[in-house]
Amino acid sequence: MSIKNVRLEVMQAIEPQVKGFMEEFLIPTENIWQPTDFLPDSQSESFFDEVVQIREEAKELGYDFWVTLVADTITEEALPTYESWLMDVEGIDQHNGKENGWSKWVRAWTAEENRHGDVLNKYLYLSGRVNMREVEITTQHLISDGFDIGTDRDPYKNFVYTSFQELATNISHKRVGKMAKQKSNGLLAKMCTIIAGDEMRHHLAYREFVKTIMGQDPDGMVQAFADMMKRKIVMPAHFLRESGGSIGAAFEHFSNCAQKLGVYTAQDYVDILKKLNGYWEIGNLSSLSEQGEKARDYLMKLPERLERIAERMKFPQTQQTFKWVEANGSL
Ligand SMILES: [Fe+2]
Ligand SMILES: [Fe+2]
Repeated sequence: MSIKNVRLEVMQAIEPQVKGFMEEFLIPTENIWQPTDFLPDSQSESFFDEVVQIREEAKELGYDFWVTLVADTITEEALPTYESWLMDVEGIDQHNGKENGWSKWVRAWTAEENRHGDVLNKYLYLSGRVNMREVEITTQHLISDGFDIGTDRDPYKNFVYTSFQELATNISHKRVGKMAKQKSNGLLAKMCTIIAGDEMRHHLAYREFVKTIMGQDPDGMVQAFADMMKRKIVMPAHFLRESGGSIGAAFEHFSNCAQKLGVYTAQDYVDILKKLNGYWEIGNLSSLSEQGEKARDYLMKLPERLERIAERMKFPQTQQTFKWVEANGSL
């Protein structure tokens, strides 16, 4: 049987469990937080006073902080790219009647994620610290440019990617929240922390999908995981550009910024890999094909190799400027 058919069969075999995953890892719409729970209520008389407070508190945060928050927001706002990508993955069949658990998962996951870009965008708008038009142009570019994460339509590779990526966003939102708290910006800290909590639930779900697949097809799964790590997990916003800029140019500058601030670092990448290796018990996999064994051994040695590279990595310390934070930020 071809790899594609094996994967389809595995996806179909697991599909009846997806309803349970949704109950375990997602929160019903009526019970979960909404952006308005954190932002000033525009129907209230105190709206303008609350906005003034937001703007005052925002003045305490520095240039690199705003750049990072803007890029995090734009990454969330490019959600149409992620939903359409996942809907196209083998086995996630939205046309097969409404009862396909996988497509229900993708819709419900998207619906949760959608609140992240929504709340952050509104906060940025009210803060008065960023050039919103430039932010909007970048968002439009990013959605239009799409992404290429190297997963193809392979469900195994896509779930490795999302397991990794949800934890990466958990880390970066959590750290941004901590920095906001240190600058006494309680509202922003709360928002980032609650978003980080969503990302963690999503990470736990996707890593469970992979673990379940591992139970059915360890050989195929471990090879897919190794393939993804060989080509490196690229960030979903790797095509980020500013107005007038070339595709991907702003991404490198932003990731240097995030690395400098300590919001997301090369060491975090290694730590995520170690966690995934541990949870999926890669080191204990046995009865694999020769290629499966090679993949397992590669994955087990990779953290140490990457750690050595991370230690040697140098990042430019020069201050990068962005059109998003041109007008208000002090360097
Ligand atoms: Fe998100
Ligand atoms: Fe997420």
